[in-house]
This record gives sequence, structure tokens and C-alpha cells, in this order.
Amino acid sequence: MSTIDEIKNRVDIVDLVSETVQLRRSGKNYTGFCPFHSNTRTPAFVVFPETGTWRCFGQCNEGGDIFGFVMKKEGWDFSEALRNLADRAGVELKPLTPKEQEAVEEHDHLRNLLEDAVAFYRHNLFNTPAGKPVLEYLHQERKLNDETIEIFGLGYAPDSWDAGFKHFTSKGYDQEDLIASGLLTERENVERSDRAAVYDRFRHRIMFPIRDERSRMAGFGARIINPQDVPKFLNSPQTVLFDKGHILYGLDRAKKEIRTQDQVVIVEGYLDVIALHQEGFPNAVSPMGTALTEYQLRLLKRFSRRIVLALDADAAGDKATLRGLQVARQALDRESDPVFDARGLLGSEARLKADIRVTTLPDGLDPDEVVSQDAAQWEQIVAEASPIVVHVMETLAKEQDLDDPKVKSQIANQVLPLISDVPDSVEREAYRQRLARLLKVDERAFTETAAPKSRRRRANLRPGPASAGVEGSLSGDLPIHATPELLEAHCLSVLLRRPDLVYRVDRALQENGLNRISIDDFQSSDHQALLQLVDDSLKQDHSEPQLFVQNSLSLPLMELADQLLMKTEKLDPNEDKVLEDLVRTLLVLRQRRLFQEIEHIRFLMEESQLVEDNSVADYQETMVHYIAARSRLDKALGFYTSHLIH
Ligand code: UTP
Ligand code: MN
Repeated sequence: MSTIDEIKNRVDIVDLVSETVQLRRSGKNYTGFCPFHSNTRTPAFVVFPETGTWRCFGQCNEGGDIFGFVMKKEGWDFSEALRNLADRAGVELKPLTPKEQEAVEEHDHLRNLLEDAVAFYRHNLFNTPAGKPVLEYLHQERKLNDETIEIFGLGYAPDSWDAGFKHFTSKGYDQEDLIASGLLTERENVERSDRAAVYDRFRHRIMFPIRDERSRMAGFGARIINPQDVPKFLNSPQTVLFDKGHILYGLDRAKKEIRTQDQVVIVEGYLDVIALHQEGFPNAVSPMGTALTEYQLRLLKRFSRRIVLALDADAAGDKATLRGLQVARQALDRESDPVFDARGLLGSEARLKADIRVTTLPDGLDPDEVVSQDAAQWEQIVAEASPIVVHVMETLAKEQDLDDPKVKSQIANQVLPLISDVPDSVEREAYRQRLARLLKVDERAFTETAAPKSRRRRANLRPGPASAGVEGSLSGDLPIHATPELLEAHCLSVLLRRPDLVYRVDRALQENGLNRISIDDFQSSDHQALLQLVDDSLKQDHSEPQLFVQNSLSLPLMELADQLLMKTEKLDPNEDKVLEDLVRTLLVLRQRRLFQEIEHIRFLMEESQLVEDNSVADYQETMVHYIAARSRLDKALGFYTSHLIH
């Protein structure tokens, strides 16, 4: 038995969940109020001891196993959940390999160095003559009090090429550490021996320590003091601890509040985050001068699915929107432009099942200015956030002559493709209506423009002679009544070997009006973690995805991946067949799940009618979604095989 299975066997899911949720026995299963969403009139949370899983049939509509439960509850990632549950179960995780151990020690060492750096810059801010005017600036101009400055660990990097170098080497760090941590820069042209080969990266700047969501030091952001200096902000370079796309500034301090309020607000700047926290809005975080990554959104989703983007007026309203639905803010001193990419965000929103909204700041003001002038106004700005599609249509319509037919058409052409990207049909319809009202046209006018992309299928996915004869099994050795666990494992065993097939699976699904493959297709957290890795390897454009996957696995997952990969040592050389089998397995998996879910919700509805708790309406809404999803799925499955439909 694998380590993960052993932990699953030893931890009783009912015991585990009972620590947070009061459960009531109901047939084979247990029900209670969902701990993950606040509107809990209905006991829509169900624990299934037989499969070791749980699911919320109410608002959040999520489910998983014991790992998924603690991940969601504590905001842990898979490896944190693994460590904690292994502890609880008394299962010993295999010790790290010497190489892994070495990496852990190296990281700890660099983190210590960065903590020392925080202290060094702090000292320079508070206790040196050069720091005095900087402190004054933070007090006077930025309206920060000492408590805030301390909490966020702000500091001052002295105006010197080697003050940091000297200080840190005197504390025993060597030049290699200093380079690896990003505190020192290596001079490119070292031939000229009259200058040192290395120098302090941060000089005469306000220092913002950047920590990961677990509060561990990762790097620094550094703002100019002298308005003539460039660039305005200088961040740590990419290091083993600092990856801009993986960290959100302020999340370590914000995560608790994000969970309590069930909402996070994303702003642009370090000082915006700090000012908002100081003024009583500690649910703000910021990416570091680059476009939001899906990784960051996923990180946030561990704490709340409701995500609000607070955009600058100029970023939101830029005329560029009319050209590419992308708003890039140009600034000479930026490392890279933060981009509001509506299409990308919509995709992430659908994949992550998040609720992403956009709000616009008053012209020329940053959040820190807004909040220090009028805290109530900030609250209102956040409350006014609208869904991405609505935001785009309203931005496009602003200051346009909406009576001009050409303008109407131009706007419709920009917005309709976006709308057709929205996976939920009710939501799509609502946006079409809204667009029609905005442009004062009949909604029926849209159907002509919206149609062209669908119903075109790839020839090689048509059920040709190869698949028409498939009898009784999904693939060579997978029985038709395989459990969802087995179906999940089968999909993964193929994808781990051929991560690139994800793209083709996605295309096939989308052509059938279905959502792309996502970790929600898997209930088992270890399977989810593996699919995540498959995904990450693709995003990084890794030339050898399989190697990437194998290299980044933690030990217990490696064990599982090896087992899975063993099953696909001999993949059918006919790629179309492999793909077809994969899509079909996935569809059957989804169908089984939906079937079960519909059954459960029926059961819950009957129960709630008995106690007359008026919660039926909530369930009905979920039911409508399930049934719509089922009919899409049935259609798609009918397309692949006729005999698998129940
Ligand atoms: P801004 O240029 O809008 O600055 O960059 P700001 O935050 O309003 O700064 P103040 O108010 O003038 O002091 C917004 C954010 O983008 C990131 C920083 O996090 C900054 O806070 N950024 C910007 C970078 O990381 N690198 C850059 O080169 C520029
Ligand atoms: Mn600002």
C-alpha cells in the first residue's frame, strides 16, 4: 500500500470532519452545515464514509477527500496536508534523500540571510541619519504609522555600493550566498580590475520585504527615494526562493481576513497593500508589477473564491481595449507591464471555479490615496466590482456614441467572443441580454455573429471504424464498472506519460461544449496534485514535460506516479486511439460523478422538505446546473460511444 493510501485508511473522515462540522447521520452518510461558505441555511455538506470523501451541494459545490478537506480548511498545499495528516495517522513519511535534504538546508540558510537583511535595512531606516528623511517621507507623505512600518518590516538600503556586502560578510555569509539570495549583483564586465566584481543590488531605496504565504522571506521590492532614479521599483531577481509569479505581496498577513470576509482584493502596489491594511482593509494583496498568473489565482483560491481586481482608471479605460481586449499600461521604468487580459482571466475563472470581478479606481488615484482620503469610498469601490464580461462591455461603451450602428457592432464583436467563453449557460444568457440592453439592439441580432465557431469537430475524433467496435471496456484492461478512483488513475497514468495530450483533450471537450480537464475532475487530492504538475509542466513550456513531472515530485507522490506510469509502459502507438480512450474515460468519470451527485441532491431535497427548512430553492438551483451539465455530457458521450450511456 502506498503511503498516501495508508494515511487515507488510517484517518477516519467522519472523525476528521467532526472536529469542525457537527455531523448528523443520514443513512450511510453524514450531513452537516458546510464550513466553507457562509450562507448556511441548509445542511448541504455531506460526508461519504464509504469512499472517504465529502461534498458541499450548496453554494461552494466542492468536494474531495481528507487531504482536500484540510487543505481547504487550513489553506495548506498538498504537501503541508500530507505532512500533517501523516503525523495524525502515525504514518512515517520516507525521509528526504540527501539531495533533497541539502536543498532544504540551502533554502533555510538563504532565508536566514534575508531575515538578517530585513534587520539591516530596518536599522538603517530607524537608527541612521540617512534613514531619517526616509522615515519622515513614510510618515508625512505616505501617512504610515510606526506600527505599520514595523509590521511590514520596511527598511532603508543605504546609498552605497558595498555597505550591505560588508555587513553580511561580517556576519559570516559568503559571496555565493549573497548572489544566490539576490542581494548582490555580479558585474558583467569584470575585466576592468579597478572595480569590484560584485555590488549591492539595492542602494538608496525604501525596502519592502516580500514573504510567501507562510511568512517565509522570499525577496525584496525596493522603491526609489530620489524621483530621478530609475527604475522606480527594483525587485529581487528570480532566485530559488523568489519567483514573482508564485508570490502575492501581503498574502501572509491577509490570508486570515480573506477567509473571514470570503473575499480578496487585488491592488497594484506595495504601498497600496500597506495603506489598506493600516486603514482596516487587511484583505488586500498585490502581484509584483507583472500580470496576474493563474498560479497566483489558485493560491488565492485556497482562501476564497471571490476575487476582486481593483484596476487603475487608466489601465481599465485605455483605448487599447478596443483593439485587443488587452490593456497594457506603458511606463518606461517597468520591468514588465501589468496586463489586464480579460480573456485569460475568464479562462482562469472557469478553470478555478472562481468568482473574479473587476472594479475601477477614480481617475488618477491609487488605492492608498483613496483610502487615506475616505475609507468609506474604498468600501464602495470594492462593492461596485462587476463580473469581467460586464466590466469589459461597460469600459468599451464608455464615452462612445451608442446610437452609432458601427460603434454598436464594434462593441458587440469584441464582447461576444468573450461571452461565448463563459462556461455557464445561464450566465452567458444573462450577459447577452445585458449587452443587448446596453447597445439597445434586439438580442436575436447576436446569434448570427456568435455562431461560427461551434459544431466544427476534428476529423480524427469522429467515432470512426476504430472506435465503433469498442465493446464493453473503456480501454484494454479497464472494466466498464471501474470505480471513479480507477478511472481517475487511468486518466493520470496516460497524462503523466503524455502531458501534451492535455491540449488535445481540452480541445475535444471544448468542441463538445464541455469544460476543459481540471483538477475538479479528480476527487482524490493526490490525483489532483499530479494533474496540477502535469499542467505546470505544460505552462513552463518544458521541453521534456515528463522529466519535469518526475523531478518535481515529493516522495509519496513519486511513489504513486511510478505506479501509474507502470500501467502505461506500452501505450498504443496509435495516438488517436489513446486520445479517444482518454476523453471517453474522462467523460464516463464525469458522468458517474454527476449521476451520484444528482442522486444525493434528490435525497437532500427530500429530507429538507420533511423538516420544512425552506432550503429547497437552494438545492433546486444546484440541481438545474447538474441537469444541464448532464445533458451536455450525455450528448458528448453519445458522440463517442453509443453503448456507454445508461
Ligand atoms: P506604480 O508605478 O503604479 O507605483 O507601480 P505605486 O505603487 O503607485 O508607487 P507609489 O505610490 O508612487 O509609491 C505599481 C506596483 O507595481 C510594481 C510595484 O509592486 C509597485 O508597487 N512594480 C512597478 C514593479 O514591481 N516593478 C516596476 O518596475 C514597476
Ligand atoms: Mn501609488
